[in-house]
Amino acid sequence: MTAGGIDLRAGGGADIDAVMAVMSDSFDRRYGEAWTAPQCAGLLPMPGVWLTLASDHAGAIGFSLSRVVANEAELLLLAVRSSTQRRGVGKMLLQRFIEDAKKRGADRLHLEVREGNHAVKLYEEFGFALVGRRRNYYSGPDGRCYDALTMAKIVDGLD
Ligand SMILES: CC(C)(COP(=O)(O)OP(=O)(O)OC[C@H]1O[C@@H](n2cnc3c(N)ncnc32)[C@H](O)[C@@H]1OP(=O)(O)O)[C@@H](O)C(=O)NCCC(=O)NCCS
Repeated sequence: MTAGGIDLRAGGGADIDAVMAVMSDSFDRRYGEAWTAPQCAGLLPMPGVWLTLASDHAGAIGFSLSRVVANEAELLLLAVRSSTQRRGVGKMLLQRFIEDAKKRGADRLHLEVREGNHAVKLYEEFGFALVGRRRNYYSGPDGRCYDALTMAKIVDGLD
């Protein structure tokens, strides 16, 4: 266990149900940001992809899904159960992503996030900066579309 009784561990295919439980609880359905179980299960076995699960005494409360290709690592998903948000779990998972990415040889980190998502503030706090925009990247169930912001961070031995 780490600070606050939260444990971070590497996950795998056996954790898809836990991932989907957090996914459906955390993402706002209006924006079409959440992934389906087949999307997650299909990506997990691919080279360079890794899953990190955050748990407390009651089970999984958050996760991150990431991928490294050569010297670039991408944070694909980050989510924390709504009942445990604003307690630092997102920061723990983001810090772990940065550390794992560096261990895997990445020096450029990037991610996409919906414009207006409060996670933008979290990413900025960790040194990610806006580098691009993908118009209408997300589409909600009502057909409305939302831009994605591309954010990136260069890491070195001091991060
Ligand atoms: C984004 C998310 C993972 C953050 O998880 P969390 O455990 O609440 O994060 P933390 O408690 O570590 O908070 C980190 C920072 O995020 C920002 N933040 C998180 N929730 C926020 C909110 N409701 N309003 C404003 N800022 C918020 C703040 O900067 C916060 O720092 P602070 O508490 O010191 O002000 C969580 O809100 C979530 O699962 N959201 C739905 C899924 C999602 O949109 N993921 C991001 C795109 S993949």
